[in-house]
Amino acid sequence: MTSTDTTATGSPRAGGAGRLGARTVSRIGFGAMQLPRLRDDRAAALAIVRRAIELGVDHIDTAQFYGDGFANDVIREAVRPEDDVYVVSKVGATPHSGGPHPLRLAQRPEELRASVEDNLKSLGIDRIPLVNLRRASRAPGLIAEGDQVVDLDDQLAVMTALHDEGKIDAIGVSHVGMDELRRALPVGLACVQNAYSLVARDDEEMLRLCVAEGIAWVPYFPLGSAFPGMPKVTDEAAVLAVAESLGRTPAQIGLAWLLHHAPNVLLIPGTADAAHLEANVATGAISLDAAALDALDAVPTRSGEILG
Ligand SMILES: NC(=O)c1ccc[n+]([C@@H]2O[C@H](COP(=O)([O-])OP(=O)(O)OC[C@H]3O[C@@H](n4cnc5c(N)ncnc54)[C@H](OP(=O)(O)O)[C@@H]3O)[C@@H](O)[C@H]2O)c1
Repeated sequence: MTSTDTTATGSPRAGGAGRLGARTVSRIGFGAMQLPRLRDDRAAALAIVRRAIELGVDHIDTAQFYGDGFANDVIREAVRPEDDVYVVSKVGATPHSGGPHPLRLAQRPEELRASVEDNLKSLGIDRIPLVNLRRASRAPGLIAEGDQVVDLDDQLAVMTALHDEGKIDAIGVSHVGMDELRRALPVGLACVQNAYSLVARDDEEMLRLCVAEGIAWVPYFPLGSAFPGMPKVTDEAAVLAVAESLGRTPAQIGLAWLLHHAPNVLLIPGTADAAHLEANVATGAISLDAAALDALDAVPTRSGEILG
């Protein structure tokens, strides 16, 4: 059974316990966006998800458009009902095989509904624990144009309807600005998922609002992403110095900083590498002292360099 100390599988919680809506989850979760790199080695993809669960992860972030259903498919096969894993998906885009990008925006209310149905089918479940409404009104990523520019209230209305119909248990928002976040608060948000890391901290005010409102802050790109050209946490001199002094890797220090930074932070680092998964979970055991935190806090934010 799920408890504060252990997950349903009896594993000690990775990174300790955190809150995601009404649910207790491990503070260290798993982001599935890198899994499609293992498309030609499905056994390895399944093994990574199983290993994450064994290591005390019970929060997995996914999307139908991660590998055109591949990530969801692997999660459906790897996760057993008794694992009681909190699978979180997102809507606002849809797979676009053969297009200029592997996904296209799908922001319209009927598209949000269709995306929830696609996720239900590919994940093989009859309700999704949490779905993030991924907005597209600012960089990075595709920016809505034409009929893809949809009023937030119209989107929240369909998300609420899907909740009331029992298709989704909780609602989050992703890639939002302060104004959008404030407008979405009355819906009763479980989380905000924005791009945020030691090197991209422009959303600090939003993070603090989420602390005050009891909303989980689930940063995407916690290490600065896999995309070349984006600022990487692991390139920062202060991160390298703290890593060296503690005998840890730079990635672990970047993740540990996030865990120390605010109590509502939940991690979903993305990896397709089994050793990196182990390292990411081990981050929960890292204690950063005041001197280390001061040195890391002094790293300048470079959100402006995140690719549009
Ligand atoms: N809401 C949204 O719009 C949105 C957008 C993007 C992502 N997301 C979610 O956020 C999750 C995290 O973002 P992300 O995966 O794009 O970026 P990320 O977690 O910042 O970085 C992933 C990159 O870091 C590497 N990495 C991971 N752990 C490492 C370690 N211990 N040591 C060294 N390198 C390590 C990975 O390579 P290896 O595979 O080789 O480990 C990969 O190249 C995604 O998986 C996805 O679930 C949400």
